[in-house]
Amino acid sequence: MKSIAVVVIFLKIISLFEGYVGSTKTSFEHHIRADLLKNYDKKVRPVLRGKREVEVSLALRISRLVKVDNKEQLVVLDTWVIQTWRNEFLTWNSSEYGDLNRIHFSPEEIWVPDVALFNNGDDKINLAGGPTKFVTDISVNDKGRCVWSGPATFKANCEMKVDEWPFDEQTCELAFGSYSYGKNLLKLKLFKDKRKFATRFVKSGDWEITNITAALGETDHGNCCRFNFSEVVYTLEMKRKSLYYMFYLFTPTSLLTILALSSFLIHVESGERIGFVTTILLAMTVFLLLIPSFLPVTSDGLPILGINLQVTMILIAAILFANIFVLRVYFKEGTPPNWIEKFCSFGNFKKESRVRRVNVSQADSNYPLALKSSTTTGIEMPECTGTPAFVQPTKVQEFTWQRVSAKMDLVFFVIFIIASSVAYALTFG
Ligand SMILES: *[C@@H]1O[C@H](CO)[C@@H](O)[C@H](O)[C@H]1NC(C)=O
Ligand SMILES: *[C@@H]1O[C@H](CO)[C@@H](O)[C@H](O)[C@H]1NC(C)=O
Ligand SMILES: *[C@@H]1O[C@H](CO)[C@@H](O)[C@H](O)[C@H]1NC(C)=O
Repeated sequence: MKSIAVVVIFLKIISLFEGYVGSTKTSFEHHIRADLLKNYDKKVRPVLRGKREVEVSLALRISRLVKVDNKEQLVVLDTWVIQTWRNEFLTWNSSEYGDLNRIHFSPEEIWVPDVALFNNGDDKINLAGGPTKFVTDISVNDKGRCVWSGPATFKANCEMKVDEWPFDEQTCELAFGSYSYGKNLLKLKLFKDKRKFATRFVKSGDWEITNITAALGETDHGNCCRFNFSEVVYTLEMKRKSLYYMFYLFTPTSLLTILALSSFLIHVESGERIGFVTTILLAMTVFLLLIPSFLPVTSDGLPILGINLQVTMILIAAILFANIFVLRVYFKEGTPPNWIEKFCSFGNFKKESRVRRVNVSQADSNYPLALKSSTTTGIEMPECTGTPAFVQPTKVQEFTWQRVSAKMDLVFFVIFIIASSVAYALTFG
């Protein structure tokens, strides 16, 4: 009986010992977690002397700039967030637990800081932080140092300035802090981390991040309390890559302007001018309709490219008006008054004298093209203008409304080339 009892006690001791050494059922990790979580209250701030503040270090690394939404005034970022603090309750003597000096807890089990993004723009979640946002486990070492690191996608409100679009530079702020602990209870610090981008940073196609700075600050949450709240503000400076917009908006509209200018080179009698310029005007309207889909609905400022397109449209409308005027003058009957003749001959005496000498082909020298390509309408031309061959010596017959309109074409062509160059230089200069 005695020996059996000794054996049983011996076996008991062995099994107890095995439990610590690590049998198939338990390990040291079990024991540390079980011992630490016993009577643990996760709402108690992890400081032994309750009045001291918890220092939480924060680091934010950007892995991708997902979207900059001008319309909704939002910026979406994929980030890597690291928070570290010291939990004075979660310490153990590692030599008592098989030299195990690091274990993990889920954020639901222990105290975690409720650091969240203040300017959260995500309508699906109310709190962009805390255990609902950062779902990874917390690694704790035997000294109580907690490291909570994991990915998070933030959607932050950011006021966009549209004036310079598409050459704009935007500055967005991401402010992090606690909603419930004042700075005397929870103090934020910056993690000593020189890197601003995660190692697998993905570049954005339409934005270039030019600068990221982090600063510690304080906020009073609308003067709610007698203490301030600690906050960390990350400031992101970024520049839009404008090639896309230049390529798909600016190039076609400049081409349309040049085409509209060339309408002055079309012969009046071809009857194509008005239709041609009107078509270009419609094409411009289509481009103007595209712009609002990129921009927020705001009247605070006008984007450069928008102004440019609008000015281009006004120019084309003016070109259309000028064309109508030229047409009206061309088909006017009778002889132009003296002052118009003087006005037209002003500036090119040489041409005038040459025209007077060559009198037979004078009338059609203005529009030789119409004569050469004369079909049914062209036949009428030499008949009408053929008369000057008989009445050639009179100066009055030489100067017709057609000549005035040709001169006007030239003048308008030059004026509009200058006007569009000036307009383009002013909007982009
Ligand atoms: C840890 O435990 C070992 C053995 O029980 C002991 O010698 C040592 O002093 C302890 N260390 C601390 C810091 O308590
Ligand atoms: C980033 O911004 C900070 C603060 O405005 C400034 O001191 C620093 O020179 C900037 N760095 C670059 C590369 O622009
Ligand atoms: C809180 O911060 C503001 C500046 O943001 C400062 O003017 C004010 O004195 C601070 N209040 C306390 C109690 O520290």
